[in-house]
Amino acid sequence: MRILVTGGAGYVGSHAAWGAIDAGHEVIIADDLSLSSDRFIPPSASFVRISIEHRGALADLMRQAQVDAVLHFAGLSRVGESVAQPDQYFRTNVGGTLSLLEAMRDANVQRIVFSSSAAVYGAPDRTPIREDAPIHPVNPYGDSKAIAETIIRRFSERGWIRAVALRYFNAAGADEQLRTGEAHFPETHLIPNMCAASFASTLPLQVFGDDYETRDGTCVRDYVHVTDLAIAHLLALSWLEDHAGFHTFNLGSESGYTVGEVLAEAQRAWGIPVPHVVSPRRAGDPPILVADSTSAERDLGWRREHSDLPNILKSAANWFHHLQGVGPDSPGEV
Ligand code: UFG
Repeated sequence: MRILVTGGAGYVGSHAAWGAIDAGHEVIIADDLSLSSDRFIPPSASFVRISIEHRGALADLMRQAQVDAVLHFAGLSRVGESVAQPDQYFRTNVGGTLSLLEAMRDANVQRIVFSSSAAVYGAPDRTPIREDAPIHPVNPYGDSKAIAETIIRRFSERGWIRAVALRYFNAAGADEQLRTGEAHFPETHLIPNMCAASFASTLPLQVFGDDYETRDGTCVRDYVHVTDLAIAHLLALSWLEDHAGFHTFNLGSESGYTVGEVLAEAQRAWGIPVPHVVSPRRAGDPPILVADSTSAERDLGWRREHSDLPNILKSAANWFHHLQGVGPDSPGEV
């Protein structure tokens, strides 16, 4: 299959690009490199530096490359930034997705797998979260993903496309072969920040809030290995061969860990302390997010082979050391 990967230079996108190549597909990456580097693009992928907001050029690219399907990762993904700059999040994540969908329609490309997020659920009353839980984003990032999903659903109801939206929980870890991994600048995610505090003697990790109603007062999250996410995209593409319409799937490990538990597990796995201090709550953090991923297992045949926490922590540490050795250039955003 010829697969266009938007945002294929970013964190999850680059893992999916490598996964598609490993599975024997031909990959064309469209990325404007505004938040990423071409350094982790697979050498055998074609690369076009282009923004998803350029509908005409995208349609031309899809026609010329005879694209069969799209994996759509390009977008902005920092919750805090989205609160400060909602306009940018709507322009890129909503406007960009609309432009891409129109380009697909122009070029008669029908299948798309969209990189969505647990952020569409906001702060849900109940966990584990199923796909039919209410959509109540609590920040503009979550809004932008929810609105993009709505547009995709409406396009699919009109018969222009068939689509899967994959709602990731907390993506973590890195490619086993260290061909790509996580490196955001600035980094905001828990596990890379723990690596920096432990291995690079940066400032101690700030634990954002210890007064939540959870086992130890810190937030509970569901960490899922990025390689398992990458595999799910390929399963979703195959599934769309036989399924029209619009479908959503949660992708998580179904295990919730508090920040305190992740810290304790990291100290065990890495054999060194993770220096940390308790800080005030971070705005916009829901107390508990844990997936029910039954649908992805049942319908897509998704299996989580890399997502146990010790393995994620080992993988993240390996990547951190690799990146330290390689230098500061980064694969950027999702
Ligand atoms: N945390 C810390 N210290 C840090 C970084 C994070 O205590 O330095 C805590 C956070 O408060 C949170 C947990 O660790 O409780 C995980 O935080 P991350 O920043 O790693 O991830 P988020 O849960 O904030 O983000 C994820 C996805 C987003 C999605 C969001 C939905 O990365 O795409 O869940 O809430 F929008």
